[in-house]
Amino acid sequence: MTYVHRNHMTLLHGGQLEQIAQQYNIPLDHWLDVSTGIAPISYPIPALPVNIWQRLPQKSPELIAAAKQYYQCSQLIITNGSQAIIKALPTLYRQKNVLGNDVYLPERGYKEHAHAWQLAGYTVHFYQTLLPEMNDLLPNSVLVIINPNNPTGQFFNKRVIDKYQQQLKRLNGLLVLDEAFIDVMPDNESYCSNIARGIDDKNTTQNFTQIGNSHCLVLRSFGKFFGLAGIRIGFLVADSFWCQAFESVLGPWQVNGPAQVIAEHALKDTQWQQTQKETLHQLKVAQALMFAQVFPNTVLQSSHGCDLFITLHFHHQETAKKLYHLLCQQGVYCRLSDEQDTLRFGITTQALLPRLAAACEQACKLLLTPIKSVTTL
Ligand SMILES: Cc1ncc(COP(=O)(O)O)c(C=O)c1O
Repeated sequence: MTYVHRNHMTLLHGGQLEQIAQQYNIPLDHWLDVSTGIAPISYPIPALPVNIWQRLPQKSPELIAAAKQYYQCSQLIITNGSQAIIKALPTLYRQKNVLGNDVYLPERGYKEHAHAWQLAGYTVHFYQTLLPEMNDLLPNSVLVIINPNNPTGQFFNKRVIDKYQQQLKRLNGLLVLDEAFIDVMPDNESYCSNIARGIDDKNTTQNFTQIGNSHCLVLRSFGKFFGLAGIRIGFLVADSFWCQAFESVLGPWQVNGPAQVIAEHALKDTQWQQTQKETLHQLKVAQALMFAQVFPNTVLQSSHGCDLFITLHFHHQETAKKLYHLLCQQGVYCRLSDEQDTLRFGITTQALLPRLAAACEQACKLLLTPIKSVTTL
């Protein structure tokens, strides 16, 4: 499906609690915020040396080494979150490949991707649950896969990704993998290590302008799994062509010094990472079970997601919107999809799960209560 460009200047995201609190006239500290996919438990902030606050942030070899180890890759750059790459890529891609004009994007997915490509004037082709037919991909095009997808939870394994990577390489295009939530998936599912392995050049069509050799970028967010979205740090895993191209566009001091030190500690702390993974999984299972118990099958159609969020689909078109409102009235903030037909919940802690459960139960009760007709005596 091809869409005509729409120019949204700012997009609605989860995490906009101030605005919602004002709208529902409930004080900020009374809210349970499950509107994002950020882990509810964060990496403990280590003691930071005073000079970290005083000096301009330098490239930290220790952080780069820790990140290469964690992401299992040989080349990366440090960025101000994945968002910095998402924003800069469309213009940079056109500079590097003047024939680039088409981009394939998931119809449901983190909307900043579509926004950035549309603003830069690309023709956007939205795909739904299935990836676009491989043989239909246009030369010099870009395919964006959010893996796992936020909010649908859809996940493609490496064998599938590999085929698309090879095809895009043949087409002199680019595969963009947004792996913002992949830290909670089984080990070795990330595509980062495939880029590190080095990609053979035998399929490259020599007539094209060379745009690197892997024709693939992997975006890794730090803030979600480590529960520290506020420090704004992320990584781009790519071959040296794209790492250099982005470094020259983004310029120095992308990420502040304190964030770099915190990320270095977190990326090295394998024991904390393992505990975090197990804890998030247990919390997700408990929360999914709660939803299944609270919402009858006649209301809830299915639930999807990963260990950082759960997205609920309902039988009736209006249910998500109504439940969203009924939850907000009780000070529970989840994310109503832009299509207004699903609700996405971040994972909450064991301590707060009963509050979420009670609010969902009450919302469901009100949803199912028939509006009493006023009878005239
Ligand atoms: C799929 C996806 N990609 C990227 C981002 C941006 O993440 P960040 O810039 O914090 O790394 C988000 C944020 O919610 C996201 O959901």
